[in-house]
Amino acid sequence: MAKIALLGIGTVGGGVAELLCSNAAQIAAGAGERLELKYILCSRPHPDSPFADKIIYDFSVIENDADISVVAECIGGVGAAYEYVKRALLAGKSVVTSNKELIAEKGMELLGIAAHKNVRLLFEASVGGGIPIIRPLTQCLAANRVDEIYGILNGTTNYILTQMFQCAQRFDTALREAQRLGYAESDPTADIEGLDAGRKICILADICFGRNVPPDKIRIRGISEITAADAALAGRLGFTVKLLGRAKRLENRLVVYVSPHMIGEDKLLSGISGVMNGICVKGNAVGECLFYGAGAGRLPTASAVVADLIDAVRHTPDGKGPRWAEGSDDLLADIDELPCRWYVRSRTDAAALERVFGGGAVTENGYSASITAEMPRTELEDLCAGLREAVAYPVLD
Ligand code: HSE
Repeated sequence: MAKIALLGIGTVGGGVAELLCSNAAQIAAGAGERLELKYILCSRPHPDSPFADKIIYDFSVIENDADISVVAECIGGVGAAYEYVKRALLAGKSVVTSNKELIAEKGMELLGIAAHKNVRLLFEASVGGGIPIIRPLTQCLAANRVDEIYGILNGTTNYILTQMFQCAQRFDTALREAQRLGYAESDPTADIEGLDAGRKICILADICFGRNVPPDKIRIRGISEITAADAALAGRLGFTVKLLGRAKRLENRLVVYVSPHMIGEDKLLSGISGVMNGICVKGNAVGECLFYGAGAGRLPTASAVVADLIDAVRHTPDGKGPRWAEGSDDLLADIDELPCRWYVRSRTDAAALERVFGGGAVTENGYSASITAEMPRTELEDLCAGLREAVAYPVLD
């Protein structure tokens, strides 16, 4: 019997506790022994919880209990979670976590401690919720040089965009619904302004390219400027709008960023709706692979956390888990160096837009939009200078 401790009993932690109970036999078969949830660390009592008898408030009880072999961290953030994960690893316990902020910002350091202490630090749930992506990248696709990875990495914003574009729902109503369903971060600004997707694309870049990409070094643009006019105009041009995180090799450097993109309706990612996420990997041997599934939510995320618990219990650590090296000042290329086609929306008529970008502009409710030829952002900005209220988003080709 493996004894484990859970940190946090919010949306994800609650799902982990529930899954450990409801699928106990299946989990024991996978792990080779039963998993007993011995403690749940909380900051306050939860008298109505079915797990109330396991709740404790002092992390040192877990840290000093030699019976606990694995700790599941579901607190979030880099405050207490960072302290407890570090202490658990230093105490010789393996840790599994769903915490993208922690891995994006402190992953390099914590993985170093895990290797030094010969324990595991697993974080499958940190990107893509229930979608297997970390293990496929580090194992199944390990023979490839990954040239590009991009995807819909945030369930809340994909849910909001889907509700706005397919059901004509207002932004605020869709956000409230995403919060009610347990998809959004405690501060949903992290979802809407792209920070959550930024942390996730940094983790994917760290793994694919083997160098640390700090979230505060990449360009991030969220969905707060997307309007109902964009939905109508993009649709008429044969595109849909998705918030993408993207990391791409540019010779010896990387372009890593988050931005809304126009995606042609013939592309697979354009059909990914609601809370679902989709991640596309381009490997030099495998070609293009798409990973699809629920990117947020209680049980989908718990599915990945518990799979990591099973892995941590079943496999003896060998110090050979995923690691990445320190980045460098010249690792990241500027997004402006990446030429692409652009969607330009302006409060003008189609003729004015066509004079600048050529034919094919469409008009809707006082706005016009057009798809440009391929060009870098600097050239685009010059061309947009004379256009009223011009806004541009890259096209994913
Ligand atoms: N707030 C995140 C999302 C949760 O909406 O995708 C999963 O990381």
